Amino acid sequence: MSIDQAGTEGYQGPILYYTDAVIEHFQHPRNVEPLPPDQVDGSALIGDPGCGDQMSLDICVREGRIAAISFKSFGCPGAISTSSMLTELALGKSVEDAEGISDDDVVVALGGIPENKKHCSLLGVQALQAAMADWRSRAVAKEPR
Ligand code: FES
Repeated sequence: MSIDQAGTEGYQGPILYYTDAVIEHFQHPRNVEPLPPDQVDGSALIGDPGCGDQMSLDICVREGRIAAISFKSFGCPGAISTSSMLTELALGKSVEDAEGISDDDVVVALGGIPENKKHCSLLGVQALQAAMADWRSRAVAKEPR
C-alpha cells in the first residue's frame, strides 16, 4: 500500500509511490542470471557513496549489439527496478543506441518513480556506460599491433 492509499494526515516526509511496473521489476528483476565468464566482454562495478549502494553489470557484445546483459544490485527497490528496466532497454540494442539510453528513458519506461528516488535510476545507466567503456578498451587491447 502506498502512502497515498494509507493517507497522509500528519505525514511530513516525502511521498513515496511506486508504480505497478516499478514494483513488478523489483519483485521479479530481469537479467540477473550471471553471464558465463567467457561471454563477459565488458564489466562495471560502481557505487554511490552517498547512500552506500553498489552495482555490478556485465555485457556480452556480439556483432555490435548487446547480446546479453546481467546486473547485481545492492541497492534500494528503486535501484533494483530501474536497473532491471535498464537491462531490458539495452538488450538487443546496438552499442551506439545503448549508449544513448538515459536515466529519463528508464524512469519513463517504468511510468515514473518518486522524486527522491530518481538518483537511483542513475546507477544502472552509469554502470552500463562504464561496462561499454570497458568493452571498448578491451576491444582496442585485442587489436593487432
Ligand atoms: S537509495 Fe541509493 S540508489 Fe536508491
